[in-house]
Amino acid sequence: MKEKEAMLFLGFLGKAVLMMTVISIFGWNGVKGHRVLLDTDMGTDDIFALLYLLKLNPSQIDLQAVTISTNAWSDAGHAVNQVYDILYMMGRDDIAVGVGGEGGILPDSTILPNVGGYLPMIDQGNGTAGYCRYRQTIPVGHGGRLDIDSNYGFRKSFLPQGMRTYSPLRQPTAQKVMIETISAGPTVVFLIGSLTNFALFLLSNPHLKKNVEHIYIMGGGIRSKNPKGCCPDNASPSCQPQQCGDHGNLFTDFSSNPYAEFNIFMDPFAAYQVIYSDIPITIVPLDATNTILVNKNFLETFEKNQHTYEAQYCFKSLKIIRDTWFDDQFYRSYFMWDSFMSGISASIMRKQHNHQGENEFAEMEYINVTVVTSNKPYGVSDGSNPFFDGSKTPRFNLERNGVHSGHVQTRLRDPFCIVKNGRGRCQDGYTKGVNKPGGVPVLVAVRAKPNRNASSILDREFSVSFLDVLNQAEHTGRFNFTTQFPYYREAFYKPDLRGKNFGKNLVFDMDMSAGDFLSLFYLLKLPVEDINLKAIIVSPTGWANAATIDCVYDLLHMMGRDDIPVGLGDGFAMNQSDTVFSAVGDCRYSKVIPQGSGGYLDSDTLYGLARSLPRSPRRIY
Ligand SMILES: *[C@@H]1O[C@H](CO)[C@@H](O)[C@H](O)[C@H]1NC(C)=O
Ligand SMILES: *[C@@H]1O[C@H](CO)[C@@H](O)[C@H](O)[C@H]1NC(C)=O
Ligand SMILES: *[C@@H]1O[C@H](CO)[C@@H](O)[C@H](O)[C@H]1NC(C)=O
Ligand SMILES: *[C@@H]1O[C@H](CO)[C@@H](O)[C@H](O)[C@H]1NC(C)=O
Ligand SMILES: *[C@@H]1O[C@H](CO)[C@@H](O)[C@H](O)[C@H]1NC(C)=O
Repeated sequence: MKEKEAMLFLGFLGKAVLMMTVISIFGWNGVKGHRVLLDTDMGTDDIFALLYLLKLNPSQIDLQAVTISTNAWSDAGHAVNQVYDILYMMGRDDIAVGVGGEGGILPDSTILPNVGGYLPMIDQGNGTAGYCRYRQTIPVGHGGRLDIDSNYGFRKSFLPQGMRTYSPLRQPTAQKVMIETISAGPTVVFLIGSLTNFALFLLSNPHLKKNVEHIYIMGGGIRSKNPKGCCPDNASPSCQPQQCGDHGNLFTDFSSNPYAEFNIFMDPFAAYQVIYSDIPITIVPLDATNTILVNKNFLETFEKNQHTYEAQYCFKSLKIIRDTWFDDQFYRSYFMWDSFMSGISASIMRKQHNHQGENEFAEMEYINVTVVTSNKPYGVSDGSNPFFDGSKTPRFNLERNGVHSGHVQTRLRDPFCIVKNGRGRCQDGYTKGVNKPGGVPVLVAVRAKPNRNASSILDREFSVSFLDVLNQAEHTGRFNFTTQFPYYREAFYKPDLRGKNFGKNLVFDMDMSAGDFLSLFYLLKLPVEDINLKAIIVSPTGWANAATIDCVYDLLHMMGRDDIPVGLGDGFAMNQSDTVFSAVGDCRYSKVIPQGSGGYLDSDTLYGLARSLPRSPRRIY
């Protein structure tokens, strides 16, 4: 009897253990949703998209990894630290983060491991330095990378600070994170920056393609008609419509290319690779995003609904953007881009076998699409196309007279693209609808659905969801900077120099590379009786990007010298800024500086050390 009882008991134990294993396997997988990898350039609307996704139940969207597109609106060092801080705020230090890499593409088109994606594929050589062929359409200063890198100066005052940070040699690369995430199981990929990283991944890892379930892209314009730059009804006859009616949104260079949207334009060849990858694709182009404005009603409703840190962060970001908008047309020109894509995608994914892409937020339609990578006539060798020019065999085995063999837009206002008294004729990066064979059927969001609630002042269904999701109590942020460090005070520290005899007055003009910071420390340590450091001028045309000015403020704060004024210099070398739109320009000289290790990535982060400086209350705005 005793023996039998013991046996029974053991049997029960065994079953219990088995049951528990079953529960932990099935229970776990049962509640885990689609594994998602997000590739982003960390623009402000990318932040909205990321936070929206983090707020959704992981049983629906299980965000596994964030990789950073370094070939777009932000710079690697600033972008990666912002991702780390946002994930920390949201309690998600488990999510892998990848950025950069030092690999290159050899002349025989071999893609080396860990290409950093800093350059469009057409200009990618051996290293991270190179020409800004497409990226020169993005402003480097205000309204562009300076604002995005620092999130309008506001990121540093708000986001808490976690343990994870960029650190040279230890930082996982974008390609590594893509490989690890996608080889671990079926993955849905969200692309909301340029498509460089993911195209490189697909070309280097064809065996992993089977694990990519679906690709969602925010980008392109197919039948879109740009609502900006139109002449109002009561306009004077002299009013010249600008982008009005264009497919694209290259607001800095629409006179040469009215067709392209930024994400696709940053690397048309990469976009072509992704579109033709045979993986099912859903795209949320300008066609749809042009129909969902951040209007006054939305911003006012948002202002009254900031019940979580993440809602606060998004609202305050939007508010700064509105307050610093270059004209009074913010409410008519700021759309929901990446966040709208994340909402549509999540809604599509909620339903199984949803091949028509039914969702709450947008009307969908299949359209056959291609991506224009070069301009007709094909097969000309005019020096604009490194895939063909100067080598016996075209790179990547491309066809001599094929679609990639024409003129490739070389720069802003490329003379080839300019038509006298007419619309520009370059189509690089145009996601073009095609009726004849050759296109790829892609599920396209064509317009935003109106709010079903007619008594609400919000006009779009997604606007309601966006505010609801950001404000819900589940999966909420833990704190912001001031609640993480309750003893932190925004104080200005100034030395008491009364009664001192001042030595030589000095103005220090620096470019924010690591050596310059050492010199600055040295100058600050000298007795004011010898050297009186009156002012610092920061030049963003050297080894660091403009947003790194925060490091100068922080260093001065640490040294108790918040009294020293700091001025930010011109974003371009002499004669490099565009004559029509001075916020953009060429990189003739700065193109020799590596963007990865030892270059911008390391100087923008002071080799990872900038984050340990105390935070100065001084910021760019
Ligand atoms: C690429 O550059 C590295 C470092 O400059 C050099 O060691 C290597 O030989 C180069 N490879 C090719 C194929 O040019
Ligand atoms: C951080 O959150 C607290 C509490 O919600 C708020 O009072 C404070 O203004 C926030 N800090 C910043 C910098 O916005
Ligand atoms: C897209 O192209 C395929 C074949 O290339 C064709 O069968 C299909 O009808 C086209 N779809 C549309 C919507 O034009
Ligand atoms: C519709 O909107 C109004 C005004 O915002 C709100 O009071 C009402 O609860 C909403 N109705 C539904 C069904 O959500
Ligand atoms: C800049 O351009 C102007 C005219 O376009 C020219 O006169 C001047 O010499 C140029 N300066 C430099 C430094 O190249």
